[in-house]
Amino acid sequence: MASILITRNIPVAAPQVLKAAGHKLTTYTGKDAMPRAKLLKAVAGKDAVVTLLTDKVDAQFLKAAGKQLKIVANYAVGYDNIDVAACAKAGIVVTNTPGVLSQAVAEHAIALMLATARRIVESDAFLRKGKFHGWEPELLLGMEMKGKTIGIVGLGRIGSEVASICAKGFGMKVLYTDMKPNAEFEKAVGARFMKLEALLTESDVVSVHVPLLPTTRHLIDAKALQLMKKTAYLVNTSRGPIVDEKALVAALKKKQIAGAGLDVFEFEPKLAAGLAKLPNVVMTPHTASATVETRTEMAKLVAQNVLAVLAGKPAVSPVQQ
Ligand code: GLV
Ligand code: GLV
Repeated sequence: MASILITRNIPVAAPQVLKAAGHKLTTYTGKDAMPRAKLLKAVAGKDAVVTLLTDKVDAQFLKAAGKQLKIVANYAVGYDNIDVAACAKAGIVVTNTPGVLSQAVAEHAIALMLATARRIVESDAFLRKGKFHGWEPELLLGMEMKGKTIGIVGLGRIGSEVASICAKGFGMKVLYTDMKPNAEFEKAVGARFMKLEALLTESDVVSVHVPLLPTTRHLIDAKALQLMKKTAYLVNTSRGPIVDEKALVAALKKKQIAGAGLDVFEFEPKLAAGLAKLPNVVMTPHTASATVETRTEMAKLVAQNVLAVLAGKPAVSPVQQ
């Protein structure tokens, strides 16, 4: 019997499986994420920890846990909250939840794209304020997608899914940037590989899907925003710090770009000054993977990873260490 900490209530699929296997579970059930001091105390002596993207797993965490810790299973695909090198050095396996959330996140990116370009939230507010006085030829005009160009920044599972929906569903042209071209993908959706600068210049919608790394922090900065078309939209469902949020507010205020659809924020849960006042922004609270289906699959995958590693087997979805 191993001792497992789950730092926040997650769908029952995970605790059920772990308990059925005979392990001892401690689940934090507080209203917000586990406070740091509590986390450091609770992790002591655990063999496995299921973490959230808001839990920082660093040298201090590993020391507090102790040498018996075998796995940190992140309930997220992104794992920038984890010091992977420190875990590797301590012989601790790190896992994430790739694949099972790609469709949900891609659909959410599309929802943000349409909501900004078709001014859905602004229109809804307009109606609720009683401003609708009848059909007008030029009321709340937006941009349609057919024949437009989507620029995918980061062609992982999620980026590929967004590209495919845009190409097949809306008849959009697809440009993408990544570390290297992907010939198979290019053939499948008729996409073109290019450098970020060229992609920003040519795209009508730019959708960001890179992980947060030292090399991707502020990838979309003031200079990048300046390259975008005045009529273009930015969508970010990856990690907030990839976009320089202050520069984005400035660009939106100056109408340097047409709008932005954001699910993640540089200093979340805080928003950059002025962001919430802008009418050409649609925001969601980091909920791109928040479907019943996906959150359940993420819970199952987390449990499978924990069980495998505790049984001395290879993890199902380890991150590269
Ligand atoms: C959510 O942001 C995740 O990384 O799964
Ligand atoms: C996530 O799973 C990605 O690779 O984009």
